[in-house]
Amino acid sequence: MSDTPEVAPPGVNINVPHSARIYDYWLGGKDNFAVDRAVGEAMIKAIPGMRYMAGENRKFVHRVARDLVKKEGVRQFLDVGTGIPTRPNLHEIAQRHAREARVVYVDNDPIVLVHARALMISTDEGRSEYISADLRDPESILADKVLNETLDFSEPIGLTLIAILMLIADEDDPWSTVDVLRDKMPSGSLLAITHPTADFAPDEVNEAVAAATGAGMTLVARTESQVRRFFGDWELLEPGLVPVSSWRPDEPVDNPKAAYYWSGVARKP
Ligand SMILES: C[S@@+](CC[C@H](N)C(=O)[O-])C[C@H]1O[C@@H](n2cnc3c(N)ncnc32)[C@H](O)[C@@H]1O
Repeated sequence: MSDTPEVAPPGVNINVPHSARIYDYWLGGKDNFAVDRAVGEAMIKAIPGMRYMAGENRKFVHRVARDLVKKEGVRQFLDVGTGIPTRPNLHEIAQRHAREARVVYVDNDPIVLVHARALMISTDEGRSEYISADLRDPESILADKVLNETLDFSEPIGLTLIAILMLIADEDDPWSTVDVLRDKMPSGSLLAITHPTADFAPDEVNEAVAAATGAGMTLVARTESQVRRFFGDWELLEPGLVPVSSWRPDEPVDNPKAAYYWSGVARKP
């Protein structure tokens, strides 16, 4: 590794690891720093399939964006916990199938803000916006001016909370947070979630969580029933709450439990 000092964009703290940058490292991106790579590697030591898991999670984003537009007729999305742009981004897939699709991205990490411009390149017919906000304050997300100019709350919305809820501690009650967002969504809206779990490989996952929390991060693996609660009384679409690789896979999957995430999509009655 180079001895050249690392230079951080304004507002980006390179002395503490950040989830967006660790995830970027696993996905082969360049927007990460030594502190992120150290924790990322410690987590790979615990879970050798970590990069595969990140890739499977990304593939779920692609399948959900496609299916929600093509099969469910969704034309607008609220994506909270967007991450550093990774092509194809959600709006690019949605607009591939419906050029008029609109997406509002939300993240609270300054490094994602640095790249927000890349997330806002939309088709002429559609719209893609970025707002810097915190999921732990859902009211401020819902009150945002740009969000309200972009999304039409009289039509179904695709609410995507992909690999973000594990970054909210139980003490911050992520279930109530998601309740607030779900309540505001119009009837027919869809909620997509992926969430890491220790249900399939407790030792590996607990060691990875310990590596992250030991470095000062918040990271919580949750059980099937804890993840199910995020959907409230919404109806899970087929195939239900399943390992992320088995949610409507494009090709048969040999070992669906090799990526330690629960995933599901549910509709508001
Ligand atoms: C692991 S990345 C997931 C990126 C993308 N959703 C995906 O699955 O490919 C998690 C993202 O959630 C963001 N995040 C974490 N806590 C957040 C919060 N309280 N409010 C908003 N964003 C948050 C992080 O900054 C990071 O970009």
